[in-house]
Amino acid sequence: MEETKRIMSGMRPTGRLHLGHYLGVISNWINLQNQYECYFSVADWHALTTNYDKTEQLKENVLNVVIDWLACGIDPNKATIFVQSTIPEIAELNIYLGMVTPQNWVERDPTLKDMAKILKNKEGQNSQIGFGLMGYPVLMSADIMAVNAHFVPVGIDQVAHVELTRDMVRRFNNIYKTDYFVEPKPLLNECKLICGIDGAKMGKSFNNDIKISDDEETTTKKIMQCITDRSRARKDDPGHPDKCEVAFKYWQIFGSDEDIKQVDTECRAGQRGCADCKRQLAQKINEHFKEIREKRKYYENHIDEVKQIFEEGTEKSRKVSKKILQDVRNIIGMY
Ligand code: TRP
Ligand code: SF4
Repeated sequence: MEETKRIMSGMRPTGRLHLGHYLGVISNWINLQNQYECYFSVADWHALTTNYDKTEQLKENVLNVVIDWLACGIDPNKATIFVQSTIPEIAELNIYLGMVTPQNWVERDPTLKDMAKILKNKEGQNSQIGFGLMGYPVLMSADIMAVNAHFVPVGIDQVAHVELTRDMVRRFNNIYKTDYFVEPKPLLNECKLICGIDGAKMGKSFNNDIKISDDEETTTKKIMQCITDRSRARKDDPGHPDKCEVAFKYWQIFGSDEDIKQVDTECRAGQRGCADCKRQLAQKINEHFKEIREKRKYYENHIDEVKQIFEEGTEKSRKVSKKILQDVRNIIGMY
């Protein structure tokens, strides 16, 4: 029998997750967990690469990420959830990979360049790029290779990192004359990209996100702020859904085909005011997240259960990585 393919992915614990995470990554993971052996990591070392001097909330953030995942439907009976920093084998692999990684490979990493730019613009942050941040893509490769994953489901912004991991695997196998590591393939979500309420990329630091954990009132408030067809002054002016930069796009994600058609027709005919339209949209979104938010509340009140889930996941994941690191030590020729 063919072995089950392994999936590995991760997220940095930077706070509560938003709808971009949900639609762009988590929904993909939820589908994959039914077919594959899945490992999902809370990448707290990766969070340290830029926030090493702000660790007060790190533990809480780790918990919140796991709670968001569980609430959304990541099932610990199907997928293995773990915390990166509790698996020392990943750090060991990171060392070996660092040895075989040419410096210019990490320097040309586009995502890293963006992160460095953001870091430079941040107030009060030391604008120096740390050795740890330089090693970001190597550490990510260590994550992926520590379970020898076949596929890595990520958002589009992380694909370059996975490509680098493929280079790294090839180089490692070449240098040590082995075919031990598989070249992992990025898996892009076919799901729609969601923009923030201002029309830009949704992101926590842009203050334009809707959180999975937002309550209904907050969600509605945010939706009421989102941009519509700017050329429209009065509610009986004919509208242009294609120029409605945020609200109609959200309808296309959260509405049924019928909803979308109705909104489109009524908007064009000037039979639909933007405020009413957005109020309805907020309702739709709140309906969509009702169960998820209830589940979230449950886990918030059962933190011990949450901890147990990732502790068990860590144990499982570590077993796999231990075996791989034993093999790696042999392959390289360590004592
Ligand atoms: N760098 C990823 C992000 O910021 C998170 C991550 C860490 C990851 N390790 C990973 C993703 C391994 C996929 C595989 O979103
Ligand atoms: Fe957008 Fe709805 Fe206003 Fe039309 S009515 S412009 S779809 S918010």
